[in-house]
Amino acid sequence: MHEYYAYKNGNLKTRDKTYVWHPYTQMSDWLRMDAPVIVKGEGFYLIDDKGNRYLDGVASMWCNVWGHSRREIVDAIIEQVRVLQHSTLFGLCNEPSIVLAELLVKMAKGMGKVFYSDDGSTAMEVAIKMAIQYWHNKLGSSNKRREIIALEHGYHGDTVGAMSIGYIEHFFKPYQHLLFKVRHVPSPYLYRKGREMGDADYVQYCIDSLEHELKANEGRVAAVVMESGAQIAGGAIVYPDGYQREVSRLCKRYDTLLVLDEVATGLGRLGSMVEYIAQDSMPDIVAFGKMLTAGYLPLAATLASDEIFNAFLGRYEEGKHLFHGHTFTGNPIACACAVANLRLYEQEGLISKVKSSSALIARRLEEFRCYPIVGDVRHKGMLAAIELVKANGKDPLLTLSCRRINYAIMEEALKRGLFLRPLGHIMLLVPPLAIGREELDMLIDKALEVVGAIARLVE
Ligand SMILES: Cc1ncc(COP(=O)(O)O)c(C=O)c1O
Repeated sequence: MHEYYAYKNGNLKTRDKTYVWHPYTQMSDWLRMDAPVIVKGEGFYLIDDKGNRYLDGVASMWCNVWGHSRREIVDAIIEQVRVLQHSTLFGLCNEPSIVLAELLVKMAKGMGKVFYSDDGSTAMEVAIKMAIQYWHNKLGSSNKRREIIALEHGYHGDTVGAMSIGYIEHFFKPYQHLLFKVRHVPSPYLYRKGREMGDADYVQYCIDSLEHELKANEGRVAAVVMESGAQIAGGAIVYPDGYQREVSRLCKRYDTLLVLDEVATGLGRLGSMVEYIAQDSMPDIVAFGKMLTAGYLPLAATLASDEIFNAFLGRYEEGKHLFHGHTFTGNPIACACAVANLRLYEQEGLISKVKSSSALIARRLEEFRCYPIVGDVRHKGMLAAIELVKANGKDPLLTLSCRRINYAIMEEALKRGLFLRPLGHIMLLVPPLAIGREELDMLIDKALEVVGAIARLVE
């Protein structure tokens, strides 16, 4: 047998460093780091090759719902694997993709059709193409609606369209010349509003800025694109009450499409199954991903209203159909997994459990404020953020004795049997949605210890 098959025997850490290129990682730092090799997932814990257990404090990049190895989901995957592993939606149908689409349409008020892709970035690419082509199909040669408006601090993924819309300079500067033009307007990041005005006035300023763009470009805007409920990657910015409703109203008033990204915030993360319903807003197109398969398999979905879908109908020669598809679009294993997952949401009354866990987080989050390096704490549903700053100011705490703060947070957490992945100086707690009360308390205790350890190192 070749040595590379002997995965249980070799030195996995060394081989990782020799062969694997990790995402969003400075690999020269990585070579000096000592990240665990995870070999098993059990409930809310990840277990490494030495048997150490780590509480999964970021739901394996914000997607895990039930913890790891949940029997019903694993069984659904195995059952489907035995019957049909993959069959294309190019020219054929398959049962799990039909059942899932029906479930999603019944769940998402106002939506009529489901288009499948593999991850959140591609779901947003599809959403953008749908929005742009909708106007092209509808208005033909007189179409002038080609512009997109998006929010500052937004993030929609790493493909070229998604980077254009969710432009974060620090991430995407090298690719800037490849990106298409998007008009960005301020988002309601109240802690860093950068203007001498009260919170309510700032929210109004954000809304007015959007209206200004819509008015100045009347008849030319195809869509307003934004995350639904909160911007997570941009800093866990939770929208103030009424903000999204107002954006939705403006889109209707200016006859512009609203495209919402619920990849990270839908399906329970913010405490609601469908966040745009909770926000009293109505998109024309919406994307889901991450938690759709409980975090077990790659799958995403872009849902469109009937009005959008109908604009793609016509004679073949008109070329109105959506020119998009992936090899694994509607993969039956991933769809069967998602169906089992959504059924469990209902059977277990997950959303009401999330509400009580969320109340516990809200209560306990206040404990972080006693540290002078904690500038702000933000929370909604099963998302919490602790923004670390230089004591007695608002400057982000970016380094600690020449070490990047995110590395320091991760290392301090790992020492305590907790896996965290901060956004620079913003510590995120994004646990699996179904985390039990005991583990949730433990997560917050350990996170408090991490902040305490960092505060001592700062002194
Ligand atoms: C709001 C939002 N949209 C899209 C994406 C991209 O999803 P994926 O990483 O599955 O491509 C993310 C990922 O974090 C996200 O947070």
